Amino acid sequence: MRRAFGLFLLIGYSNLLVDAIIDVAWWSSVAQLSTSPLLASSAARSQCTHLKGLSPGQSQICELFSDHMPAVGTGAHNAIQECQHQFRSHRWNCSTPFGSGYIGPIHQLGTREAAFTYAILSAGVAHEIGKRCKKGELSSCTCSQEPKPKEVEDDYSWGGCGDNVDYGSRFSRDFIDIREKEESVKRSNDNGRSLMNRRNNEAGRKILKRHTKPKCKCHGVSGACNLKTCWMQLPAIRDIGQHLLDKYRTAKRVQINNRGNLQLLANGNEYPVNRIAGKNGSERKARGVPPTDLVFMDDSPDYCRYDRSLGTVGTEGRHCKRGSSGAEGCDALCCGRGYNTLTLETTAKCKCKFEWCCKVVCQTCVNSTRVDICK
Ligand SMILES: *[C@@H]1O[C@H](CO)[C@@H](O)[C@H](O)[C@H]1NC(C)=O
Ligand SMILES: *[C@@H]1O[C@H](CO)[C@@H](O)[C@H](O)[C@H]1NC(C)=O
Ligand SMILES: *[C@@H]1O[C@H](CO)[C@@H](O)[C@H](O)[C@H]1NC(C)=O
Repeated sequence: MRRAFGLFLLIGYSNLLVDAIIDVAWWSSVAQLSTSPLLASSAARSQCTHLKGLSPGQSQICELFSDHMPAVGTGAHNAIQECQHQFRSHRWNCSTPFGSGYIGPIHQLGTREAAFTYAILSAGVAHEIGKRCKKGELSSCTCSQEPKPKEVEDDYSWGGCGDNVDYGSRFSRDFIDIREKEESVKRSNDNGRSLMNRRNNEAGRKILKRHTKPKCKCHGVSGACNLKTCWMQLPAIRDIGQHLLDKYRTAKRVQINNRGNLQLLANGNEYPVNRIAGKNGSERKARGVPPTDLVFMDDSPDYCRYDRSLGTVGTEGRHCKRGSSGAEGCDALCCGRGYNTLTLETTAKCKCKFEWCCKVVCQTCVNSTRVDICK
C-alpha cells in the first residue's frame, strides 16, 4: 500500500523511467553482442546472466541458444542503423541522448515511433537469424524447408538453399516477445503497452515474411540457361525499413478496453483489433486492423528539445533544408527556433592539364557550400 501520495508519485515517476531504461538496456546489451565472439558454451551461462536488462526467460533462452546471440545482436544493430537511415530527416532521428551509453532509441510512451522501433527490431533479429540458418551457422536450423511456391515455373528446380524466415521469425518471437509476458518485467499497470509491443513485434515479422520471395538463377555454359534453380530469399533490410516507414505513416491508434484487449479508435467507432492475444478467443478473429499494421496508444512528443528523461535528443545542431516544406525543411526541423548558416569551404584539384612531357598540372579550386543548422 502507498503510505503517502507524494511518495507514490515519486515511485510512479521513477518506475516510468526505469521501464524505459530497461527497454533500451536489453537492446543495448544484445546489440553489443554483435561484436563479441561467439559465446563459448561454458561461458554462456555467466555471459547471459550478466547481460543487463534481459528478463529471466530471455536469460534462459540465451543460455540454451548461445550460438544465436551474436545473430540477435547483429540483427538489432542493423535494425537500429536502418531506423536511423529512415528517420534521418525527421525531428525524431532514432537516436538516444549522447553519452547515455545506450544504443538505439528510448521510448517511454507508446508512440508511433515506439511502434516502428519494436517492429524493425523484431524484423531485424528474424532477418539475421534466417540468414545464418541458411549459411549453416546455427546448430538448430538449416536452409528453408518451404515447399515450392506456385509462382515458381515448372522448369525451374526448387531446392536451392533458402533463407529460413520461418525459423528466424519463431526465434525472434520466442526471444523478444517473452519479456512482454513475464510478470517480473511487465509494467504492472500497463498491460496495454505490452499488448501494443507484441502486436508491433509481430507486424514487423509479418512484413518480413511477406517480402521473402523466391529468387531464381540460371546456370549453364556461356550464358545458356540450362539449369534454373530457385530458393527463398529474404528482402534487404532497406526494403523492410521502407515498408515499415509506410506503416509508420498509417499507424492506427488503439486503446485498451475493459476486457483487456486493444481496440481501434477511429472516428469514435471502436473496432476490436484482430489477432491480439486477449482473454476471449473470439476477439482474435474480429474485424479490425490488418496484422501488418502498426498500432500506437500515445501522442508523440514534439521531439524539439533535448530531454533526457523522455530520451529525446532535440533538433539543435541538425542540418536542415531552407525553403523546403518537408520534414527536413528548416521551419519544421528547427521547431521555429531559426537556424544559422555556415559556409563550408572545400578545396579540390581542378582544371588539370597535361604538359609535355610528362606531367599533369592542376589548379586548386575552392568549393563553398552553404549549410543551414538548427539553433
Ligand atoms: C467471448 O465473448 C463473447 C461476447 O463478448 C461471448 O459471447 C463468448 O461466449 C465469449 N467466448 C468465450 C470462449 O469466452
Ligand atoms: C540525431 O540528432 C542528434 C541531434 O542533433 C545528433 O546529435 C545525432 O548525431 C543524430 N543521429 C543520427 C544518427 O544522425
Ligand atoms: C561542392 O561540394 C558539394 C558538397 O560537397 C558538392 O555537392 C558539389 O558538387 C561541389 N561542387 C563542385 C563544383 O565541385
